[in-house]
Amino acid sequence: MTPTQASEAEAGGAPPTLGVGMVGYAFMGAAHSQGWRTAGHVFDLPLRPRLAAVCGRDASAVREAAARLGWAAAETDWRALIARDDVQLVDVCTPGDSHAEIAVAALEAGKHVLCEKPLANSVAEAEEMVRAAEAARARGQLAMVGFNYRRVPAVAYARKLIEQGRLGTLRHVRVTYLQDWLVDPEFPLTWRLRREYAGSGALGDLGAHIVDLVQFLSGEPIAGVSALTETFVKQRPVPDGPSAGLSGGAGGSLGPVTVDDAAVFTGRLASGALASFEATRFAAGRKNALTLEINGSAGSLAFDLERLNELSFHDHTEQATIAGFRRILVTEPQHPYLEAWWPPGHALGYEHTFVHQVRDLVEAVAKGADPAPSFADGLQVQRVLAAVEESAANNALYTPVPAPSAPVPPAAAAVAATGRA
Ligand SMILES: NC(=O)c1ccc[n+]([C@@H]2O[C@H](COP(=O)([O-])OP(=O)(O)OC[C@H]3O[C@@H](n4cnc5c(N)ncnc54)[C@H](O)[C@@H]3O)[C@@H](O)[C@H]2O)c1
Repeated sequence: MTPTQASEAEAGGAPPTLGVGMVGYAFMGAAHSQGWRTAGHVFDLPLRPRLAAVCGRDASAVREAAARLGWAAAETDWRALIARDDVQLVDVCTPGDSHAEIAVAALEAGKHVLCEKPLANSVAEAEEMVRAAEAARARGQLAMVGFNYRRVPAVAYARKLIEQGRLGTLRHVRVTYLQDWLVDPEFPLTWRLRREYAGSGALGDLGAHIVDLVQFLSGEPIAGVSALTETFVKQRPVPDGPSAGLSGGAGGSLGPVTVDDAAVFTGRLASGALASFEATRFAAGRKNALTLEINGSAGSLAFDLERLNELSFHDHTEQATIAGFRRILVTEPQHPYLEAWWPPGHALGYEHTFVHQVRDLVEAVAKGADPAPSFADGLQVQRVLAAVEESAANNALYTPVPAPSAPVPPAAAAVAATGRA
């Protein structure tokens, strides 16, 4: 605790503050701001988040964003943000091409880090981030990756049911993540469609979420995959100005789409359970449709993000005449995260996942405990994504994924692989 934090705490009996600096202020920046602003007003947090400064590259736009989103100051260089004495935690909400550089610099500067998903644009970058996180851990700094769907109460509760053995031995996992914002071939070539910024397409954007969810819910790594990917629209109009992720105006010329539009793959979990995955931006009519179903020897679970307060559960040990899928409304105070929210039945939404993310991270920082998902979890997702790309490049050849215990190469070997010192 710094002297300022201590005196503030002593003066008002309020918890000490945790100064936050956020890089990027568009879609995720707004969602994370909501989380940082709200968590301390809903949950009894051991540290009070202080929205110290936000960073963007355009001075007037970032000042406007700071005022709108509730940040005390604005910076135009993320290095200056990291260097601020009033920032103890750096929240990275930029496209994947800058995750590794910002997160590693922040950890080396003695800051805790929350980094949006996917952790990085390549396995080599993710390994570099894990090395930095491990070194920082020894100095007391923590690092977490923002797979926010783990924090949907129904998903967190599904994990509990699986941990308690209510599904028995897992046999099948079936997951889809479907969107439709690329159906129009005139949609412009924004950063999400360019490999140098995004790393991959629907795979890294949507596939990363469902790979993480499968590994989180099952508690098992994906051992290998067999994959197909496709880029349906190969060229798109080049935007005339700065382009945000899911929108943007287009100029006259066309440029190549250098990422996948869709990825379909099967996988084997370490225990032998079989999994199927579909991630696409071409599912006309599907806006943000993440569904999953898990079948085990003792029961099944099903979840649909578009009905995120509900969980379907079938207990296969019940008498057959009354057994069947039941709809659990996950809004009871005993359900994960619900103790602090509204009376039963008063539903939560997408933005609450970011509030829960802040709660979990702030509690971990206060205790000095490892937050989850860790950068190592993010690296494991990245290894699966890389195996999917390798398999797809080889006509869906079954491609093993290195186990979580696979060693992270030392820095010298990584410089040779990435070209980055
Ligand atoms: N968890 C989720 O559900 C979820 C949803 C969407 C996006 N994401 C992830 O969040 C990240 C950001 O995506 P987004 O949708 O917010 O994108 P976006 O285009 O809406 O916003 C990106 C922001 O980063 C800023 N930026 C880019 N490079 C920068 C730099 N060098 N310095 C400072 N600012 C910089 C841009 O100005 C913009 O403010 C990506 O990694 C994406 O995969 C996660």
